[in-house]
Amino acid sequence: MPAAPPGTLPAMPSDINLKDKVVLVTGASRGIGEAIARACSKAGAAVVLASRRQDGLDEVAASIKGEGGTALPIAAHMGHPDEVDALFERAVAEFGTIHGLVNNAATNPYFGPMLGISDSAFDKTIEVNLKGYLSTIRAFARQAEAGGSIVNIASVLGMRAAPLQGVYGITKAGVISLTQTLAAELGPGGVRVNAIAPGLVETRFAQTLVDDDELRAMFTSRAPLQRHAQPDEIAGGAVYLLSDASSYVTGHTLVADGGMTAT
Ligand SMILES: NC(=O)c1ccc[n+]([C@@H]2O[C@H](COP(=O)([O-])OP(=O)(O)OC[C@H]3O[C@@H](n4cnc5c(N)ncnc54)[C@H](OP(=O)(O)O)[C@@H]3O)[C@@H](O)[C@H]2O)c1
Repeated sequence: MPAAPPGTLPAMPSDINLKDKVVLVTGASRGIGEAIARACSKAGAAVVLASRRQDGLDEVAASIKGEGGTALPIAAHMGHPDEVDALFERAVAEFGTIHGLVNNAATNPYFGPMLGISDSAFDKTIEVNLKGYLSTIRAFARQAEAGGSIVNIASVLGMRAAPLQGVYGITKAGVISLTQTLAAELGPGGVRVNAIAPGLVETRFAQTLVDDDELRAMFTSRAPLQRHAQPDEIAGGAVYLLSDASSYVTGHTLVADGGMTAT
């Protein structure tokens, strides 16, 4: 780029947009997934919305379409690989290529000391939060001949002790590891893989933590910003990681926690 004349700023490429891209978001019927899907649509992407319940997805899709966007709602259980494959088959039939994938749907069926978790709750957490992420990435990679970008929603609970949410924390640590390994394995094919690790975000998933002063303080008391987040505050990072503005970023975990883990 030639040097700018004195007193002027160099021209900057405006790359933080998703024009002409198709992005599939899991867990898009509410919370962080809905916020990411809406932000992707505002940035110019057509969005494929997935979660188990069709009615919740239909509402979000209608609202996105009402604002001039393109949205395709498809019900699928992320713990069931056959449903994940069918989801991608329909999305590819509709749009040709899916350029971006946001793995966001997760579960946390047990809250309590780790030693007390039942086998079924343990298996369920692994099934959705880890195997589910792997199933969608496998389906995404099959059709991503020209490359693409994957964003895995992890958690700060995968980066440090997760009292009372231990197995959930194990899966989120696994998501960070999976992100790094798949960045290494898929990078030569032009697929970037990154993660976002949110702190406490006000959603149905985290309502018990947000509403309880003591539990909420576990996240907010050490955070320089001294508060929890709203779902929209996680979405901007996802748009960046899906966009060409992050074309040299892969294997990274973007922490969005109000500074909690930095202190
Ligand atoms: N909220 C927080 O404080 C926080 C902090 C760190 C990380 N996170 C992570 O952020 C992500 C989103 O959480 P959230 O707080 O936004 O939760 P949420 O508001 O409860 O939304 C969860 C979404 O996932 C879908 N879902 C759940 N199980 C599914 C399954 N088996 N298959 C397909 N879809 C499924 C739900 O829709 P259906 O019920 O229709 O399936 C819903 O759309 C998760 O990965 C979570 O671990 C959240």
